[in-house]
Amino acid sequence: MIRSVVRGFGAALPKRVMPNRELEDIVETSDEWIVQRTGIRQRYVAGEGETTASLGADAARAALENAGMSADSIDLIICATSTPDNTFPATAVDIQNRLGIHHGFAFDMQAVCSGFVYAMATADLYIRGGLAKRVLVIGAETFSRILDWKDRTTCVLFGDGAGALVLEADEGNGTNADRGVLAAQLRSDGVHKEKLYVDGGPSSTGTVGHLRMEGREVFKHAVGMITDVIEAVFEASGTTSDDIDWMVPHQANRRIIDASAKKLGIPIEKVVVTVDLHGNTSAASIPLALATAAGDGRIKKGDLVLLEAMGGGFTWGAVLVRW
Ligand code: ACO
Repeated sequence: MIRSVVRGFGAALPKRVMPNRELEDIVETSDEWIVQRTGIRQRYVAGEGETTASLGADAARAALENAGMSADSIDLIICATSTPDNTFPATAVDIQNRLGIHHGFAFDMQAVCSGFVYAMATADLYIRGGLAKRVLVIGAETFSRILDWKDRTTCVLFGDGAGALVLEADEGNGTNADRGVLAAQLRSDGVHKEKLYVDGGPSSTGTVGHLRMEGREVFKHAVGMITDVIEAVFEASGTTSDDIDWMVPHQANRRIIDASAKKLGIPIEKVVVTVDLHGNTSAASIPLALATAAGDGRIKKGDLVLLEAMGGGFTWGAVLVRW
């Protein structure tokens, strides 16, 4: 049986770090409020010349170097993003060109904060379907450019960055002992659109728009949706929360992460948390967290890793990977 095995990981962050204190000069807020309600202490903010494509390409280069592979061996690039450099072409195609790749194919995945989970599930299907052998799965965002910097209820929450994995086709024996993607479950429900959306776009206003969110409403749904889809992954794969070595959640809010882990019975020591360092980087948050925890030696070859996310749409999903 073909499996999609992780061969390398990488990350890229803008040069500028913005600690909570800096936000106190922009809107009426405090470091204390932000830390207590969200766990965020700082975020990175893209500057001149730094874009979703440049950050995504840097993360991809780091992942290729970590894998010991050359760019020209990649035959598919999927970039999860909601903040593309241009309305079209896809940021993934721009990244493909920046990496000097002129064969194979590339496309973007738009599922907001769940984008990386959707992209992992999609890459796995392309690999298992025989359409690709080596895939760059990238999550890259510059949410700072769609924030309303006068709205304290949203501008304190998000940051910019990118992360990437190299997945490669490998033979497995079809059991949960195999390395690679073992199971995935994806969900969406557009009835929740108004709770978290961007109030512009090419076909509605002809503008880029700004992020709008009813934070309390999102919070209310998040834990239930996340835990339900994780239970579905456990059922699909015949695993339980006891089997998990690491849970790597989308980094939106420390309280959502803690409540989800608690409801699933996963001890907090097994949960990778980077929201304090990066804020909510939407589709980039999971690969950034993976690069952090694999880079410092916490996530090791053979570990069972649970990825989960929930975001605008709403979209939500979970992926189980043996590292
Ligand atoms: N600084 C100071 N005060 C603030 C700020 C701020 N930055 N933002 C809001 N407040 C005030 C509000 O105005 C309100 O004041 P009031 O009581 O006088 O009306 C008070 O703080 C409490 O506001 P709430 O919205 O009730 O605060 P809550 O505890 O719900 O925290 C938060 C807000 C952090 C947005 C929370 O609801 C949340 O995390 N929601 C999930 C949203 C999320 O993470 N979205 C990301 C994308 S989706 C996803 O990834 C899951």
